[in-house]
Amino acid sequence: MGTFFSISVVVVVVFFLCFVHSTDYAHALTAPSDISALKAFKASIKPSSIPSWSCLASWDFAAADPCASPRRIHFTCGLTCSPDSTRLTQITLDPVGYSGTLTPLLSQLTQLHTLDLADNYFYGPIPSSISSLLNLQSLTLRSNNFSGSLPSSIANLKLLQALDLSRNSLSGFLPGAMDSMSGLRRLDLSFNRLEGSIPRLPPNLLELALKGNSLSGPLSKSSFDGSTQLEVVELSENSLTGTLRSWFFLLPSIQQVNLSNNSLTGVEISTPAAGQSDLVAVDLGFNKIQGYAPVNFAAYPLLSSLSLRYNRLRGKIPLEFGKKKSLRRLYLDGNFLIGQPPATFFGGQGQVSGSFGDNCLWGCPPSSQLCLPNQKPSSICKQAYGGKPKS
Ligand SMILES: *[C@@H]1O[C@H](CO)[C@@H](O)[C@H](O)[C@H]1NC(C)=O
Ligand SMILES: *[C@@H]1O[C@H](CO)[C@@H](O)[C@H](O)[C@H]1NC(C)=O
Ligand SMILES: *[C@@H]1O[C@H](CO)[C@@H](O)[C@H](O)[C@H]1NC(C)=O
Repeated sequence: MGTFFSISVVVVVVFFLCFVHSTDYAHALTAPSDISALKAFKASIKPSSIPSWSCLASWDFAAADPCASPRRIHFTCGLTCSPDSTRLTQITLDPVGYSGTLTPLLSQLTQLHTLDLADNYFYGPIPSSISSLLNLQSLTLRSNNFSGSLPSSIANLKLLQALDLSRNSLSGFLPGAMDSMSGLRRLDLSFNRLEGSIPRLPPNLLELALKGNSLSGPLSKSSFDGSTQLEVVELSENSLTGTLRSWFFLLPSIQQVNLSNNSLTGVEISTPAAGQSDLVAVDLGFNKIQGYAPVNFAAYPLLSSLSLRYNRLRGKIPLEFGKKKSLRRLYLDGNFLIGQPPATFFGGQGQVSGSFGDNCLWGCPPSSQLCLPNQKPSSICKQAYGGKPKS
């Protein structure tokens, strides 16, 4: 009897404690430092840019705890918490045109692994305190209007795998210490106002996109020295100069390269070791490349798309290009190529598309799409080959 009674009391007491404890808990889940950081984050966004139906409008700190669930009315979207509901792990805002600055207090959200504010109107600097977010794996500030330079402290983010700051107004140089970002796989800083040369790159990078900036100087081997996994290089629309040396296309994992719309003056290319290369697509159009059409591209077994359009190439179209089975697109228009193009381009079912137009070729069958647009007037071709001083 006595035992039964005390067990009952214990059960009741335990039940009561659990109940009281859980209701209590629901009122204060999120760490106070995370709450104050979130409040500061929202406070630095102009209220007039927060539509009533947006994620941020539902962030009501007076009415609820950010990590409390279920979230039917408050904090309905835009953030994710840890499984124990104490820490913020993710902020992914809706792209509704929020306008404001990014508070430095964000650095208190030390468990954050994803921050995505893409397609809004955030402006001002990217706070250097962002380097305190040591668990950050993905940082996406694409298509905003952030300005100033990329804080060099960003190199502290060793776990960061994807960094997309494209389409902002960032200026200045790339941080020299970027090569310490050993977790980084994808880096996209395209369409900003970055200048200077490319520093030594993070060693585990797969994709590098820096198109549409003002980067200058030649591509140097030391920048790419550790880049054994680099597959995609997007550097078009910059001010790169000099000769692209043969080490570049021998980067062991390289697949796609776009260096169009720069000021390169030469390209050196050697045959890949043991005929092994994953190179698929190369765009070197709209540069100032002189010399003969680089025949060694034909030795890259998977190469399917090659553009050398609008450069200053001379001599003949290499016969090897005509025999290359993997080639599907070939743009050689806008150069000073001479002679008759290899007949192999015109025999079959026209499996190669592209253009040989605007050169100094003869006998390019007008019935072939490849021969459009027309060749240059012979006066220009004579001048180019007439031994007269180069303009
Ligand atoms: C972006 O910021 C720059 C200055 O930092 C300013 O000149 C420009 O007007 C802004 N653009 C937009 C779309 O707000
Ligand atoms: C290379 O970049 C230029 C400029 O951004 C673009 O117009 C072109 O289509 C790209 N080339 C390829 C093969 O995608
Ligand atoms: C590349 O340069 C050419 C010639 O200057 C220009 O016509 C073209 O618009 C440029 N392409 C891009 C994508 O900027």
